[in-house]
Amino acid sequence: MQAQYDLRYTRQLMEKIIDETKQGETLVLDNKEGNQRKLFIESYGCAMNFSDSEIVASILSNQGYNTTKVLEEADLVLVNTCSIRDKAEQTVRKRLQEYNAVKRINPKMKVGVLGCMAERLKTKFLEEEKIVDLVVGPDAYKDLPNLLAEVDEGRDAINVILSKEETYGDISPVRLNSNGVTAFVSITRGCDNMCTFCVVPFTRGRERSRDPQSIVEEVNDLWSKGFKEITLLGQNVDSYLWYGGGLKKDFDKASDLQKATAVNFANLLELCAKAQPKMRIRFSTSNPQDFTIDVIETMAKYNNICKHIHLPVQSGSDRILKEMNRLHTREEYFSIIDNIRRLIPECSISQDLIAGFPTETEQDHQDTLSLMEYVKYNFGYMFTYSERPGTLAGRKMEDDVPEETKKRRLNDIVQLQRKHSEIRTRQHLNKTVEILIEKESKKSDLEWSGRTSDNTVAVFPKEHYKVGDFVNVHITDCTSATLIGKAVGYSENN
Ligand code: SAH
Ligand code: F3S
Repeated sequence: MQAQYDLRYTRQLMEKIIDETKQGETLVLDNKEGNQRKLFIESYGCAMNFSDSEIVASILSNQGYNTTKVLEEADLVLVNTCSIRDKAEQTVRKRLQEYNAVKRINPKMKVGVLGCMAERLKTKFLEEEKIVDLVVGPDAYKDLPNLLAEVDEGRDAINVILSKEETYGDISPVRLNSNGVTAFVSITRGCDNMCTFCVVPFTRGRERSRDPQSIVEEVNDLWSKGFKEITLLGQNVDSYLWYGGGLKKDFDKASDLQKATAVNFANLLELCAKAQPKMRIRFSTSNPQDFTIDVIETMAKYNNICKHIHLPVQSGSDRILKEMNRLHTREEYFSIIDNIRRLIPECSISQDLIAGFPTETEQDHQDTLSLMEYVKYNFGYMFTYSERPGTLAGRKMEDDVPEETKKRRLNDIVQLQRKHSEIRTRQHLNKTVEILIEKESKKSDLEWSGRTSDNTVAVFPKEHYKVGDFVNVHITDCTSATLIGKAVGYSENN
């Protein structure tokens, strides 16, 4: 659980990166004047897909495309897809049928599939779904102009080549559906972990880290445009490692200088926190096996790093963790939790859990529930196991837990989480917390909605405050997941 490499990281390098990135601003217009064609782009699945769609929109904005929210008027429809569970794929298949209905009225409309399903199914997509003109994997978006030229000439086009270098670090994303306050910044791509249930290493390829300088530049640029919160994104952010480019697995072969000036995730967090001391910084996803104590220490050191850690555990049973190839034990997970609680008592912790992994017994399931009791997560994302073709579990293990058992176990997990979420939410009662206002409350146009540093949603009367303000809110009441309060003034961050 300790830092995997002895990084003799130099403070001067950090100062240099911050200095070099202070100047310069790239102007990205949501809709570029003169663009004639209309792009309808839709994303399913994880935050990384949403972030990738912003990169795609940026590439296509230089190809004459402006985005539209009206499917019927689109010249090009792109769907960024998710393969993580079978259900996610079925949702996309259904959506393709809906595009097909529109295409019948507007035969000139072209349809492209991006993301993980494109990568997993490759040419099969063109065979199976006649409506699809274009198939592009997550590392091939820069090839879109060429692929679209082929499509324009009436041919199907496909590029699903995975890359060892591509990070899109040089592309300034167009912010789609933005509230102007919060944004995603991607820092790593791919994953090398090979959890046996997971399709991501196959669809998103080898893990690579993005140049910290380009990350800080993006953060600075976002701040200058009025954004107040960023989420650093990666499948496994804690394994971020920059030593001048190259795959993480080749770090051992790097030169002494490269090793001495390498930037790990804790360093990157610090770089971002210092570059914009008022910008709220979040990150996701952490993987327990790569999580190091210096990340917790860095979080504790900087007020603007939000006090929330998404730390998927998947199962509370040592035997199942091993079958899943999650490279930590239950005890090691507890020691991370203890360290977080010791160094940042107010930190919230959330989970991902899978019910019904092959061979899971009632005892394994009880272990998951008892792990949850130990941590008392603030919230979580909970799933039944879905066998994915090509993964190790898919190839080697029988999906032997009956569907009803999976569902019952999932229900136990969800009920327990609900109880814990309520306990955690109530802990905010009668306290004054800093909220960043993000949008109007869904329930009332007289109220704002925003989040605390620990990622709990709060609503309160609008008064004279506006979106993007940092406000101190006194919490007087709550539902199971939402805080209700009244603003008592701007926070010192404002
Ligand atoms: N990189 C993250 C997770 C990415 S996938 C990590 O470190 O854990 C998001 C979540 O989907 C996973 O945490 C897992 O809980 C769930 N998931 C992945 N594959 C799954 C499968 N085959 N069946 C059910 N849930 C799955
Ligand atoms: Fe998937 Fe495990 Fe990576 S869940 S994304 S293989 S950390």
